Amino acid sequence: MTTLLVTGANRGLGLEFVRQYAQDPVTILATCRTPEKADALQALAATHKNITIHRLDAADPESMRHLVRQLGKTPLDILINNAGILSGRDGVFTPSVADPSQTLGSLDSKAWEKVLWVNTIAPILVTEACLPLLRQSKAAKIVMISSGWGCITDMDSGYIAYRTSKAALNAAMRNIADTLKQEGITTVSLRPGWVITDMGGPNADLTPQTSIAGMKNVIAGLTVKDTGTFFGYDGKIYPW
Ligand SMILES: NC(=O)c1ccc[n+]([C@@H]2O[C@H](COP(=O)([O-])OP(=O)(O)OC[C@H]3O[C@@H](n4cnc5c(N)ncnc54)[C@H](OP(=O)(O)O)[C@@H]3O)[C@@H](O)[C@H]2O)c1
Repeated sequence: MTTLLVTGANRGLGLEFVRQYAQDPVTILATCRTPEKADALQALAATHKNITIHRLDAADPESMRHLVRQLGKTPLDILINNAGILSGRDGVFTPSVADPSQTLGSLDSKAWEKVLWVNTIAPILVTEACLPLLRQSKAAKIVMISSGWGCITDMDSGYIAYRTSKAALNAAMRNIADTLKQEGITTVSLRPGWVITDMGGPNADLTPQTSIAGMKNVIAGLTVKDTGTFFGYDGKIYPW
């Protein structure tokens, strides 16, 4: 049976990944920072035996090592690096609300560092920590949940930390994709579209159901020939 691990599985797109994969014959390792507060995920796990919940702060290397020790030799077929933040500042931010810490003239380097940590460095370190498990799969797939806002071709102003963190994630994805393809491991970036979640806000274009159904289709069809590609939830290949 396929085993997959999702980061940031307690809400938003991560929770919807778990909800939709729970209908399939797969084992889901749903990770989140605070399992005891993950009510919606706990409720889902209570009615689906194929979900187990694990603690993972994706920005804490010790938390990653602890998780991998817990998982032992479980072969991992799909890793979905979904956890992400829009701002390094506390508060509610959505694309419709300007974040002064990411606006030229009032930049906050500490907040920028935090975004880079969570959105760029953490997914690569989580991947590195999971490699022994991914190597036990016959056809492992690594998915980085990126963003259209990381697209250099379409780069707009504002949200400089978030946008550069996703552009850098795509670059890092290409780097490790090139290393891992020799082992038959497929690595891609996916853009979910603009989706109604805490991060996307209420004015977004897509429901989580539509975005995740699309991304699940893309993931199902991936082969090592696709490695290093930036796909949309709609299956199209997007520019960097
Ligand atoms: N929604 C959109 O329109 C959109 C568009 C493009 C890309 N994306 C990307 O899609 C992914 C999911 O976004 P979303 O819309 O679902 O956002 P969301 O509703 O804000 O959820 C973010 C998730 O990431 C988790 N997270 C944040 N920092 C973490 C850390 N250090 N360790 C573990 N988990 C952490 C959060 O956990 P807590 O509850 O513990 O904070 C939460 O589960 C992100 O990578 C985002 O950049 C979203």
